[in-house]
Amino acid sequence: MLAAKGEAGMIRTLEPEFIGKTYDDFLFRPQLGTLSTRRKASLRTRLTTRLGLDLPVVSANMDSVTGARMAMAMAHEGGLGFIHRAMTIAAQAERVAMVKRTQGHVVEQPWCLPRGSTIRDAREFTRKQHISGILIEEAHGSGILAGLLSRRDLPWGEGSEDRPVDEFMTPVERLVTGAPGITIDEAERRMFAHRIEKLPLVGADRRIRGLITRKDVTLSRQRPYSSKDSKGRLLAGGAIGARGDFLERAAELLRAGADVLLMDVAHGHTHIMRGAVEAFRARFSEAELICGNVATAEGAAYLRDLGADGIKVGIGPGRGCRTRLETAAGVPQLQAIREAWCAVGDSVPIIADGGVKDDKDLFLALLCGASSVMLGSMLSGTDEAPGHVIEDPRTGEKHKIYRGMTSPQAVLEALYDYDDERPEAAEAALDVPAEGQEVQIPYKGSVLDILHRIRGHLRSAVSYAGGESLDEVRAKILADPLQYLIPLSAAARTESYDR
Ligand code: XMP
Repeated sequence: MLAAKGEAGMIRTLEPEFIGKTYDDFLFRPQLGTLSTRRKASLRTRLTTRLGLDLPVVSANMDSVTGARMAMAMAHEGGLGFIHRAMTIAAQAERVAMVKRTQGHVVEQPWCLPRGSTIRDAREFTRKQHISGILIEEAHGSGILAGLLSRRDLPWGEGSEDRPVDEFMTPVERLVTGAPGITIDEAERRMFAHRIEKLPLVGADRRIRGLITRKDVTLSRQRPYSSKDSKGRLLAGGAIGARGDFLERAAELLRAGADVLLMDVAHGHTHIMRGAVEAFRARFSEAELICGNVATAEGAAYLRDLGADGIKVGIGPGRGCRTRLETAAGVPQLQAIREAWCAVGDSVPIIADGGVKDDKDLFLALLCGASSVMLGSMLSGTDEAPGHVIEDPRTGEKHKIYRGMTSPQAVLEALYDYDDERPEAAEAALDVPAEGQEVQIPYKGSVLDILHRIRGHLRSAVSYAGGESLDEVRAKILADPLQYLIPLSAAARTESYDR
C-alpha cells in the first residue's frame, strides 16, 4: 500500500490503478451535459491557498519560457507566469516590476524621462521598455509632470537625434490629464472626447500619480478574467530556488511586487528544502510560497507539513528533462498527481508540472488532483517566450529554442549573467548535473492563441463532464476518478491518438 491513512499524515490510499500511469493511459467517460453553452463554464481555480486564477494554467520558470512578456500575457489571460531565476537578482526583480507596472488599467509608476533628454534617449527608452509614449518630468526623479512625448511626436529621420525632448513634447499646459481616483469609464470618455491614447493622472501639485492608456483600458475590458491583485495590477510570480542567494532574491522580488514565490528545486523532498522553507518563513511569514518539485505522497505531505501554500508536482515528465534517463528517478505524472492529492487532499493546491503534450492532459491532471497545471514546451516557441526566432535559410522554416534549465546550454548561459563579483553564484550554477536537453520548437506566433485554445478545450471538457464549472466537476470526480476514467488498451490508444 503506497499511502495508508495515518502514515506520514496521508489522507487516503492511492488507487492501485494509477500506479505506472500517465496522461495517455485514460480517456474520460462522457457524462450527461447540462450547460446551454460551453462559454459559460467557469474555469476558476486555486493556485495557492490564498491566490485564485480564472485559467488553471501557469507558465514554467524556464529561461526559454517565462520572462516579463510571457508573465504579462499569462496574467492577462487569467493564468500566471513564474519569471525564471537564471539571471541576476536585479534583472529578475526588474522583470517582476515590469509586469506589475502593466496592470489592469492604471500604470501606477509610469516611465519618465527628465526635461533635456535627447530624442535619441527617448527612442532608445521606448524601445527598451516597450512603450509608445513617455511622460516627461521637470527634473530627474522630481515626479513633477512637464509634458508627454508620444511616438507620434518623435521626429522622422536622423537629423534631430541630439535635440531635447522639450521641443517635441506636448507641454503640461496643453495636456489632457485626469485626477488620481478617476474611474475607468470617465477616463475612457475623456480619452475618446479628446481623441487621445494616454491620460496622465496628476495630483493638485502636478505630481505624477499614474497613467491610463487606451490600450490597457481596451485590454482590461476585453479580458475581464485577467489575474489581478487588489489594486488591479497583473499578478506576477518569481522563482527563487532554495540555496545561495535565495533569501536576498526573495526580498527583492517581493519588494518589486511579486505576488507569489516559487521555491523550485529538482528534488524538493529534501532536508535542504526544509532548511530553506524555515529560513524563508522566519523572514517572510506572510508571503505566498509554492514549493516543489515532488512526485510522491510522502513528498507532498512533507511540503504541506513545512507550510507550503502550493505544492508543485512532477519529477522528470518535462519535454526538456533527462532526469529519468540519467538517474532512473521519477514517477509517471498522473500517478504523481494522484499520489500527491491522496496525501494532501484539497488542503494545499497542487500544481501539475511537466509532460503536458495535448490539451486533454490538462483536464486529466485537474480531475485527478491538480488545481492548476504548469506548462513549459507548450508555451515555448511563441512570440512571448524569451529568445529569437531562428529561420532555416534552406527551408525557410522558423523555430525557437526550448531547453531544460539544467541543459548544458542553459547552465552555461546563466554563468554569463553572473559577474565576477558573484563567483559563488556561478559555482552553484555549475554544480547542477546536466539533466536537461535543448530542442527546437516550431515558431508558433502569439501565446494568446494557445491560451484561447486551451480555455476553449477545457470548457468543452467541463461540458462533457456534465458540469457548469471546473470546480463543480472536480468536486464530483476527485473522490473517485476511476469511476469516470477508462483505461486504454494499445488499440484504443491508437484509435484515440494516432492521427
Ligand atoms: P514541459 O513538458 O511542459 O515541462 O515542457 C516543463 C517542466 O520541465 C521541468 N524542467 C526540467 N526537468 N531537467 C529536468 O529534469 C531540466 O533541465 C528541466 N528544465 C525544466 C520543469 O519542472 C518545468 O516546469
